[in-house]
Amino acid sequence: MTQFNSNQLLLDQVIAAYSRTDNERWNTVIESLLRHLHGFANEVELRPEEWWMAIDFLTRTGQSCVGPRQEFILLSDALGLSSAVDNLNNATMGGATESAVTGPFYAPHSPHIENGGSIALAGEGETVLIRGRVLATDGKPIAGAELDIWHTSPNQLYAVQDKNQPEMNFRGKLRTTADGGFAFRTIKPIAYPVPVDGPVGQLLGKAGRHPMRPAHIHFIVSAEGYRSVTTQLFTRGDEYIGSDAVFGVKDSLLIDYQRNTDRSLAVDWLLEHDFVLAG
Ligand code: BEZ
Ligand code: FE
Repeated sequence: MTQFNSNQLLLDQVIAAYSRTDNERWNTVIESLLRHLHGFANEVELRPEEWWMAIDFLTRTGQSCVGPRQEFILLSDALGLSSAVDNLNNATMGGATESAVTGPFYAPHSPHIENGGSIALAGEGETVLIRGRVLATDGKPIAGAELDIWHTSPNQLYAVQDKNQPEMNFRGKLRTTADGGFAFRTIKPIAYPVPVDGPVGQLLGKAGRHPMRPAHIHFIVSAEGYRSVTTQLFTRGDEYIGSDAVFGVKDSLLIDYQRNTDRSLAVDWLLEHDFVLAG
């Protein structure tokens, strides 16, 4: 018997051992996973030292998941898997705002701010007023929609990564007014690197990839009776737009900040942007 044939028999045995439960979805997923996993090993004729290298890498990835640090999500992001799953499960409907990956730095329980208030508690940079409306796909404004917002500080770190920042720095939730409007102030975000002091950083280095994400702001926009969207708005023209370390950029999510000329607003930049939710 050839090695290929014996491995084919082996795979049949393994599949039979794992994919005969009474849960149809489990059976489908596990069988496909096993076919691809064994298929991969057979295709590249995986060597023992390469198998060991993979075991060591995954072990260190798990060991790096300490406290809020989630190296496995970062690995999924850096391999483009998170964006693939996002695309599969968030098909754009009727002009609704497109989604983008959540990333590992989302934290629940951001503070509620007044419409027009600021989410910048500490940090120096160019100021921006971001305003717009939350609309349904038929153009109707959605009153009482919630925007949950987070982005990095000018030192390129999220507050959850940095003990020297106030815990709620550059994070906030607000609700739209009766006409669907929202407004908040912050400091214009800049590009930043994903964490490179763990196994994912080594992987990026090995591939000769930079760790940078283009400047962006994260949003979760939700409203009763509508499909919520987790998304990001990316600064058009950022030098990393075409090479995002985690493959999150979509054309429809590129935005243009305008220089502010209205002195009464007391900000350097203005961003006008509407979010659209599917029913
Ligand atoms: C983020 O944008 O916060 C992010 C997304 C994926 C990996 C790392 C960071
Ligand atoms: Fe981010």
